[in-house]
Amino acid sequence: MCGIVGYIGLPEKSSDHQALDVLLEGLRRLEYRGYDSAGVATVADGAVETRKKSGKLSNLVGEIDQAAMTPASVGIGHTRWATHGGPTDENAHPHLGDGGKLAIIHNGIIENFAELKEKLLAEGETFDSETDTEVAAKLIGRLFAGDAAGDLTEAVRLASNELEGAFTILAVHADQPDRVVASRRNSPLVIGLGEGENFLGSDVSGFIDFTRDAVELEQDQIVTITTDDFRIISFDGSPAEGRRFRVDWDAAAAEKGGYDTFMEKEIHEQPKAVEDTLLGRTDAEGRLTLDELRIDREELKNTSKIIVLACGTAAYAGTVAKYAIEHWCRIPVEVELAHEFRYRDPIIDESTLIVSISQSGETMDTLMAVRYAKEQGARTLSICNTNGSTIPRESDAVLYLHAGPEIAVASTKAFLAMITAAYLLGLYLGQLRGQLFTGQIKDILADLHKIPGKIQEILDDADTIKQLAAEMKDTPSVLFLGRHIGYPVAMEGALKLKELAYIHAEGFAAGELKHGPIALIEEGQPVFVVVPSPHGRDSLHAKVVSNIQEVRARGAKTISVAERGDDAVENFSESVFHVPGTQPLLMPLLTTVPLQIFACALASEKGYDVDQPRNLAKSVTVE
Ligand code: F6R
Repeated sequence: MCGIVGYIGLPEKSSDHQALDVLLEGLRRLEYRGYDSAGVATVADGAVETRKKSGKLSNLVGEIDQAAMTPASVGIGHTRWATHGGPTDENAHPHLGDGGKLAIIHNGIIENFAELKEKLLAEGETFDSETDTEVAAKLIGRLFAGDAAGDLTEAVRLASNELEGAFTILAVHADQPDRVVASRRNSPLVIGLGEGENFLGSDVSGFIDFTRDAVELEQDQIVTITTDDFRIISFDGSPAEGRRFRVDWDAAAAEKGGYDTFMEKEIHEQPKAVEDTLLGRTDAEGRLTLDELRIDREELKNTSKIIVLACGTAAYAGTVAKYAIEHWCRIPVEVELAHEFRYRDPIIDESTLIVSISQSGETMDTLMAVRYAKEQGARTLSICNTNGSTIPRESDAVLYLHAGPEIAVASTKAFLAMITAAYLLGLYLGQLRGQLFTGQIKDILADLHKIPGKIQEILDDADTIKQLAAEMKDTPSVLFLGRHIGYPVAMEGALKLKELAYIHAEGFAAGELKHGPIALIEEGQPVFVVVPSPHGRDSLHAKVVSNIQEVRARGAKTISVAERGDDAVENFSESVFHVPGTQPLLMPLLTTVPLQIFACALASEKGYDVDQPRNLAKSVTVE
């Protein structure tokens, strides 16, 4: 939520890496974090120069084309998801302080901005925007000129101690053009290390075109980057160190690679995402070896309850995890939306295992819930896709997805990778607790290893799905039904359609239908049904077929997602999307895919931007 990038290079390098080019490239990569407005500030010839514009990054580029900026080797850039103040030019970042000599950008929310603003107004400051960020700009500006005696690092440090809430702030000052200073509390920030140049970014994609060497920061730290060094201190002024890491993907992985959109590319990357999540996690005997989990094995074995914490799509992956883990390990699993969790006095103790699921590793709601659970004594395990992000860093253990960067704002490949990782965790716990025999685990793993090929079959045979999407382009409302492990798939199908195609869509547990939602059914109402395997639990398939008949009897148009060869549904469905079969508990890895393709195709038919749907941002770093 808001993308930020900072750059400093040697002036003689600026012919290769002109600050503005680096900043715009970084913002292009980070635009998925917010696209309400964008702006840059550079320092050149002893002055700060800014350009900012509401709307997408292309508007800013247009603005700069009209009014060129002075060549510079230091600067900061921002792409905004609006919180305080609408998406106008005035509210776009950067914001200025110290009479225009200071520029800052900010990601997060400054909770005490109103009282600080009042104080600053009383001291004679004036404001051009409605943002909380401008308050920080004026504060840092005053401190620079006052208590910090012209030292930008000190001014940012002093201000950080006065600010409450969540923030990453980047600052440049005309009087200290040899540095970019950044402050971090609860919002993401990583340092990129180059030769004769250094970078800052909300995440590594902000500088992946220039370096894969990165450093992660802890909470409440300030970093000052110069051309050949970086220095980290804590908010109390004491020196600190960051953790260095090398990014395990390159710039090409963050390009569209021949697809029209990142979403299409990421849907097509799913066979590989599942494969990479499984990779290297079994030994020669086919036993699971999750050595990376830094939690005492006895403690894991003695887990009395698992609470999965996540939001949105990740929470649906958590519901799939619940069905699988409870079945395999006989451990009770609760799935809770992270933003609800800590406000309800949950029952947690040392034998509770908190499993957070997050693609970004930065979702504020999930982070806060994990912190709360830790304070209550629980052990915390993070299932995450983003190396160096906050949630895994603050958790006791992490299971990385290795699904590669997910750029499209709505999640697709990370969902399947999360489910895969959750299966691995379930099987591992079952193995540790002796609940599953080696032979059973081997069989399930063998079936998991066949999933990528089966996803590929669905992807190769998507014409019917796309054709139906085109036909349904003007549909105002769609319902999704599923039972058991098909229920979270129905929820995810509905969410994808809402966020990509802006169509009213609801997912229901099919059994719940007759308790109310069936009133929504009228002539022509499209209803997607995720049909369980006919080879699974005896009664489930028959029950869903009955549910199909119930809605059809009331005029619904049913579209089934069913296992290939499931003749029973053919007679009761207007359309059937066939998927290959697998073990019933693994079916979500297959049944989800047609629903993703459908939503993406329908949104494209309507001419919508599937990578950057309206009002959304990837990585929701505000509560
Ligand atoms: C939906 C979507 C969101 C995220 C949610 C959690 O397509 O992407 O619902 O799943 O915001 O994000 P992460 O996984 O980054 O914690």
